Amino acid sequence: MIVKIDKLSHDFKGITRIDDKVTFVSDTIPGEVIDIKIINEKKKINEGKVIGYIETSDDRISEVCPYSDKCGGCDIAYMKYSKQIQYKKEIVCDIMKKYAGISVNPQIIFDNNIYGYRNKITLRVFDGKLSLIENGSNILVNIDKCLLVNNNINKIINLINEMDLTGVNEVIIKGTKEIMVIVSGDLDSDKLIDKLKLDVDSIILNDKVIYGNDYIIISIGNFNYAISPKSFFQINTNMIDKLYDKIHDYAGIGNSLLDLYCGAGTIGIYLADNFEMVRGIEINEDAVNSANLNKKINGIKNISFECKNVNQISKIDVDVVVVDPPRGGLDKITINKLLDGNCKKIVYVSCNPITLARDIKLLKDKYNFEDITLFDMFPNTKHVECVTVLHRKSFE
Ligand SMILES: C[S@@+](CC[C@H](N)C(=O)[O-])C[C@H]1O[C@@H](n2cnc3c(N)ncnc32)[C@H](O)[C@@H]1O
Repeated sequence: MIVKIDKLSHDFKGITRIDDKVTFVSDTIPGEVIDIKIINEKKKINEGKVIGYIETSDDRISEVCPYSDKCGGCDIAYMKYSKQIQYKKEIVCDIMKKYAGISVNPQIIFDNNIYGYRNKITLRVFDGKLSLIENGSNILVNIDKCLLVNNNINKIINLINEMDLTGVNEVIIKGTKEIMVIVSGDLDSDKLIDKLKLDVDSIILNDKVIYGNDYIIISIGNFNYAISPKSFFQINTNMIDKLYDKIHDYAGIGNSLLDLYCGAGTIGIYLADNFEMVRGIEINEDAVNSANLNKKINGIKNISFECKNVNQISKIDVDVVVVDPPRGGLDKITINKLLDGNCKKIVYVSCNPITLARDIKLLKDKYNFEDITLFDMFPNTKHVECVTVLHRKSFE
């Protein structure tokens, strides 16, 4: 049937109404007229699939990636970048209004390198070649390169593809100047080292370091950060200093800072010059080891790290808390600790505006929402990073 797309959903799906029933259609832009078929019919919503485009939007562009119609990596690369930015902002405004009851008009910070920005890729093996997973399915798509990752990573993809990969389950390649390769499965370690040693700094095979160190260094601003195989690191290298500068700015100056979900300690270290004392909490042991190494590498004296679940911390009594949780946001226990503790300011860093808005609604009981800035850490994908600052009501 022929429909016109009215607007976008929070996850960039086009929305149209058929017999007053909301119908979501991927790969569409508001204003486009399309021929669709219904592929999933539920009580309140339908999901449609594009069969043909009848009137396309001026905001539609041809995709440059040869795997664009199969791989799920760049899910909105069909849209002009200026439009991606505009819609991301509109979506966050809508989410904040709907789930937190707050009207916002945030600045969105971005970088013009909308390809080649990623410092990490996770690949599977299919038919003896490295592969990505097809969008919305379990089908693997063989690739020779990925336009989202940097050139050094693409070079390694090509080298590994020259090997016999039968028996390999997963390959993770990460880094910018220094590169780490993490392989799981059956592969001859000598052959792997011979193939990669001129181009990589670290090779891990089935959790064992077989070449170089158990970490690589990524430099951001004045800091050098050690990244271990399992520790989290922001994936858009060009945007990290912009993001951390804003967190630095929002956090301000104080006596004590608590960096919750601190990963490899990167934010706490970046902010340590403005505080007497910084404490980082992180559940992943590998990441805490990297955080302690980062403390040493960067000569930071006033920071300490603890490996535990954030919700196990004792009473919060600090000037500023930075929280940077995974997509699921904060759990109830952590929210209650923030509400019951003494903390003048919370800087909330989030890659999921929906859980961010949900948590802000709960925190609003004791904190005033002050500001939000968006960072396009993930061009050509539907994701966006948000940084917000909240001030304790009783401290105003
Ligand atoms: C989005 S990352 C942020 C890392 C770091 N702030 C950065 O900028 O690189 C979230 C981190 O939270 C950690 N994490 C997840 N659940 C946790 C929990 N319940 N308690 C402590 N850390 C947790 C993850 O291991 C991960 O390192």
